[in-house]
Amino acid sequence: MDNELIIEIQDLTKDYYDGGNVIQALKAANIKIFKGEMVAIMGPSGSGKSTLLYVLGLLHPPTSGVYIFKGQNILNFSREEQALFRNRELGFVFQSCDLLANSTVFENLELPLIYAESDRSVRRKKILDALGRVGLSHRVDHWSNRLSGGERQRAAIARALVNNPSLILGDEPTGQLDQKNTEIVVEQLRELAKQGFTVILVTHEEEIGDACDRVIRIRDGSVVSDGFEDTENITDETLRERVAVLAP
Ligand SMILES: Nc1ncnc2c1ncn2[C@@H]1O[C@H](COP(=O)(O)OP(=O)(O)OP(=O)(O)O)[C@@H](O)[C@H]1O
Ligand SMILES: [Mg+2]
Repeated sequence: MDNELIIEIQDLTKDYYDGGNVIQALKAANIKIFKGEMVAIMGPSGSGKSTLLYVLGLLHPPTSGVYIFKGQNILNFSREEQALFRNRELGFVFQSCDLLANSTVFENLELPLIYAESDRSVRRKKILDALGRVGLSHRVDHWSNRLSGGERQRAAIARALVNNPSLILGDEPTGQLDQKNTEIVVEQLRELAKQGFTVILVTHEEEIGDACDRVIRIRDGSVVSDGFEDTENITDETLRERVAVLAP
């Protein structure tokens, strides 16, 4: 792990407008995330976890604040550039895995590649590589609706990986899995973090938080702790050293 800063957000806010009401779902969040970290976002229901994840994933535009991704101010990108950025740099895994049912695993993983990779044999190689990372190479030509729940979620992770993104974002990716499959999926995400992918997971489960390098806790739209004490007043160098200890 080379302690490269992947994400830096400064005073990032997100308001939703619901009828005449303003809901401050995210209030001036300041967070730094480094390459190869596996970070959990935890907090009560309605506290703003998914909002934070969607804003980080550029699925929801923030209301104000700064978002730097690998040194680039990505909020200044055009919509088209943001879409390209999402396709190249980000992989998403959601709770209810959204694989297309009447398609094979191969076809599901091919979708995100169609925009990025025109050569069919290169696509096949990338798909097999991503499936190999989650131990599912033997399921490449299976119908996705015939996979077990755990296999389906691992296929969804493989789909998130297929473009070799910098960042994997999961919104309760194990929310519908039993304990055994949860452990397998968390173990695989850990392995990916070890290989240099950066992983951010929203979760309700303390055990998953324990398996992460760092837990960011949110309450009522505010970050109340982020695993580093006193982050306001310490230097980036000190932060990097702490991360190096957490995720050698
Ligand atoms: N599209 C939306 N329009 C209006 N309000 C929203 C919208 N999405 C979320 N909210 C509100 O923003 C707040 C934060 O919601 P968010 O979904 O981020 O919470 P969460 O922490 O993910 O909750 P949960 O654990 O239940 O998934 C809540 O008050 C929610 O009602
Ligand atoms: Mg949520």
